Amino acid sequence: SSSIEETGEPLPKESLKKCLQADAVLLGNTGLEKYKNEPLTKRPEYALLKLRKKLGVTTNLRPVRLYPALMELSPLNKNALSGGLDYLFVRDIAGGVFCSAKVQGNGDGGREAYEYEYYNETIVRKTAYTAFKLAKSRKNKVTNLDKSNVLGSSRLWRQTVQQVSEDFPDVELEHLYIDNAAMELIRNPGRFDVFVTSNLFGDIISDEGTELTGTPYLYPSAELSNTEQGIYTPNQLHYPDESVIGKDMVNPIGMIAAAAQMLRLSFGLEAEAGAIEEAIRQVLAANIATADIWHKGKILVGTKEMGKRIADEIEAVS
Ligand code: IPM
Ligand code: MG
Repeated sequence: SSSIEETGEPLPKESLKKCLQADAVLLGNTGLEKYKNEPLTKRPEYALLKLRKKLGVTTNLRPVRLYPALMELSPLNKNALSGGLDYLFVRDIAGGVFCSAKVQGNGDGGREAYEYEYYNETIVRKTAYTAFKLAKSRKNKVTNLDKSNVLGSSRLWRQTVQQVSEDFPDVELEHLYIDNAAMELIRNPGRFDVFVTSNLFGDIISDEGTELTGTPYLYPSAELSNTEQGIYTPNQLHYPDESVIGKDMVNPIGMIAAAAQMLRLSFGLEAEAGAIEEAIRQVLAANIATADIWHKGKILVGTKEMGKRIADEIEAVS
């Protein structure tokens, strides 16, 4: 947003150049309301879309878990949460409507505009492979989400995911239609672990899954390419309560968790990433809370203090 203020561009050439040369890009919260009626190329989100294209990222990872100390904030009842929630959304970001040409013009129905849902086997395989590989270090279970009862692109998606699964005989694969999955996730949230899905479906269902915890600002998002160069952001890019911005009130945990993912996935620093994640767990378990997650019994702190507590805890655990 500040680059729009200074240069009129969400991602000036200079910044893009630096990002292309970097081993990883860590992108902070972005997307103020005041830009929402601007054309896409003038909105902060455009920076991310452009970076995705230029860095050639293909797969988006969104881990979401319920922190026991914050269980009360979940919109789900205790019963539904008895087994905890621990998801990994694996979303394609190289194909689908987000990446097709955007066509606008005039037709019989007046002004018209469309994108199209394009997939090929290479794109699907890439993301499916990542999902299965990661499932092996989790619960050996992948749930594929598509709309193959209606869409040809989804049929190709499902067949390709099924094929990739043959290389992972120990991983159980379940297929669900995306609309049904939106219901199942609420009805029986504890039965899922790794999800794999297309760009648009993943954008939506990962938000639903994130919100099931009631604490959407605690999670990272990682966008991976064929190399180790990745883009790391908070899972929720947009901080909806803009009244708190700049007042030392925003929750920094999503961003700190994104930095941990960056250390793990782009730099191979597993122990360091684990130390950060453990520090976050400890601080939340000690009932320290920024305003967005504050409720009775919690100790209210600001952004800086939250950062400091986590940094102190990293020192203590490492
Ligand atoms: C996200 C965001 C982005 C997306 C937008 C800002 C382009 O919603 O990371 O989920 O849909 O990919
Ligand atoms: Mg989104």
